[in-house]
Amino acid sequence: LASLDEIEIPAAFDAHVHLRDGEMSQLVTPTIRQGGVNQVYVMPNLVPPVTTVQQCFEYRDRLRAIEPSVDYLMSLYLHESITPEVIREAKKAGITGVKSYPAGVTTNSSSGVVDYESFYPVFEEMEKQNMILNLHGEVPSTPAHAHSSATKDTQAITILNAEPAFLPTFKALHERFPKLRIILEHCSTAKALEAVKACGPTVAGTITAHHLSLIIDDWAGDPFCFCKPVAKTPEDRDALLRAIVNSNGRFFLGTDSAPHDSKKKRGEDKIAAGVFTQPYAVGYVLDALEKGIERGVIQEEDVSQEVLEGFFGKWGRAIYQVEDKSGEKVVLKRKAQDIVDVLKEDGIEVQVVPFRHGEQTWSVTW
Ligand code: NCD
Ligand code: DOR
Ligand code: ZN
Ligand code: ZN
Repeated sequence: LASLDEIEIPAAFDAHVHLRDGEMSQLVTPTIRQGGVNQVYVMPNLVPPVTTVQQCFEYRDRLRAIEPSVDYLMSLYLHESITPEVIREAKKAGITGVKSYPAGVTTNSSSGVVDYESFYPVFEEMEKQNMILNLHGEVPSTPAHAHSSATKDTQAITILNAEPAFLPTFKALHERFPKLRIILEHCSTAKALEAVKACGPTVAGTITAHHLSLIIDDWAGDPFCFCKPVAKTPEDRDALLRAIVNSNGRFFLGTDSAPHDSKKKRGEDKIAAGVFTQPYAVGYVLDALEKGIERGVIQEEDVSQEVLEGFFGKWGRAIYQVEDKSGEKVVLKRKAQDIVDVLKEDGIEVQVVPFRHGEQTWSVTW
């Protein structure tokens, strides 16, 4: 990789994107292909969340109207109104999976899951119907005023241990539903990677572009690097880099690109969680892999053509059981793309600051 200035790969599959709705979707959806991607799995955390088959397809129509040259795989938001019957209807209609957000953990998750066991009939039907369960793998933080009551048996939850604390629930779900395809989204800790590897072949994990380079210090003070789950330690970041090259296809790209209007990032209110990476998705990953090689975390020869094609598409498409019928390829060139300071369009009120704004990354040519 370090010796190559130009790489050609099949167009990428991004298995976790937030495209929003309305003006924000008008702004960000056209940037998918710019990032080297032609197939995406779309998250359902709109306001209100996407909980019916009809809402889901109406949403896909709106996205297709904005950018027809992308294949949109769709998801439903796990919610009380999702019953086994809705699952059967969804499967028939061609919906790919169901995303579970723990209540109150991140953007628009107030109607998320409180108790996983109450959804067991739904998971059972998903397993039967061969649908995918996507997990936002964090438990809610202990309210600050309650921290003092945490004893040695009940560890207080903060955003730093929220993911490891979720792993027993994740394991229990896999044990109970061994044939259900489960994706642990945006793995951010070495512990999460280990938990995925310990599961059977129906389980996989996604890795974002930004968690491959960020650590705690980066988001402490920089709202544009703040997301859920938060980036963790250098050891965790390096474990993510190694997982790409030595996981035999268990981990693949899901950017979790999460645009927020820059006012929600710099404003006087609570800062919105989410890092926006869509327009430069593949380039950011290549840059992070190169930094990993420089630090000696991974070896140059580990980053083979096979690994790149796997992480960017083949491995994710295999577990999602989808193909890229287009056969499109992209050519990537080192340091040939400026990252804009802000993504904006005439006539659109919102604007978004991309990850590593003002720097350079790999360019994408179709
Ligand atoms: C907040 C967060 O995740 O810290 N989310 C956000 O501003 N997008 C608030 C919350 O959901 O708890
Ligand atoms: O940082 C995040 N932002 N994490 C999520 O899980 C949701 C996302 C969003 O929708 O903004
Ligand atoms: Zn999530
Ligand atoms: Zn997400």
